[in-house]
Amino acid sequence: MQSHILILATGGTIAGRSSSALRRDYRPGQIGIGELIDRVRPLAPQAVLEGRELAAIGSEDITPDLWQRIWTQCDAAMRADTVNGIIITHGTDTAEETALLLDLTLPTAKPVVLVGAMRAADAVGSDGLRNLVNAIRVTADADAAGRGVLLVMGDRVIAARDARKARTSGTDAFRGFPRDAVAAVTPHSLDWFGAPWAARRSARFTFPREFPEVPILHAFASMEPDLVDRIVGPQTRGVVLAGFGEGNAPRGVRDRLAELARRGLVIVRASRVDEGIVDREPEDDTAGFVAARSLGPAKARVLLQVLLANGVRDAVAVQAAFDER
Ligand code: SIN
Repeated sequence: MQSHILILATGGTIAGRSSSALRRDYRPGQIGIGELIDRVRPLAPQAVLEGRELAAIGSEDITPDLWQRIWTQCDAAMRADTVNGIIITHGTDTAEETALLLDLTLPTAKPVVLVGAMRAADAVGSDGLRNLVNAIRVTADADAAGRGVLLVMGDRVIAARDARKARTSGTDAFRGFPRDAVAAVTPHSLDWFGAPWAARRSARFTFPREFPEVPILHAFASMEPDLVDRIVGPQTRGVVLAGFGEGNAPRGVRDRLAELARRGLVIVRASRVDEGIVDREPEDDTAGFVAARSLGPAKARVLLQVLLANGVRDAVAVQAAFDER
């Protein structure tokens, strides 16, 4: 039986076009979802495809308003008997943030798959059509549900919590940490590397009505503590430190952050290093800090915003959510 897949288009390079295959001046979000579906349909006979254009932007311009619209469509599709799975075409720059946000706020009953491209549709060696065919293959698969939101790029399937863009260019731009790919996919094959881990789970958190202000403080050598005061305003509810190594910062900066924690802001220590765990250390107990564990700064910020919007402010409870897999 054919799977009915709803494709929500938001733009990105997968819908990008340039004036010449040899130039770098492509623009994202130029190809409508109707045209993308016409191109992919002959390659995906296992699915009935329905497209909806939500936006035509580069994902650097993603907003809470667009996140809300994507989530609303996904939420309705989760409850619609006529939809078996959802694909979201998305720019790669912020795909990991959108993927984690949806992972935290949607049930796992039906597959939700983000897909993008690193090369515009008319570039030499364009990867968009292949990634989209792969995404359809994954979404139409009976075993895809119960794995939360997934990202399909470069013939690999990565779970939302693990996914990050690790390279600025090239079709092999995404990595997973601590788990790498959970499946390998091509237009003619799909191999899962294990059973679903989130079978039929309901949404863990309510989608935020408002996204609390949470800046990211990026550490650098000889950073002065007063920088902390410059990024924190009256509306700030938390700070994510993109620290050195295992989430470190100069003494004065740590002291200033501890002061903010005493005033009720939630301080999460992540790392500016590309990969690795930021574990709790003894000072976290005295300072009231949270360790980001396997989440990099951008995803740590999304998780913290969702927690704060759901009324989770206590450092111990926040830490538990960062510890959870
Ligand atoms: C964007 O994120 O929209 C630009 C880059 C891309 O689409 O991959």
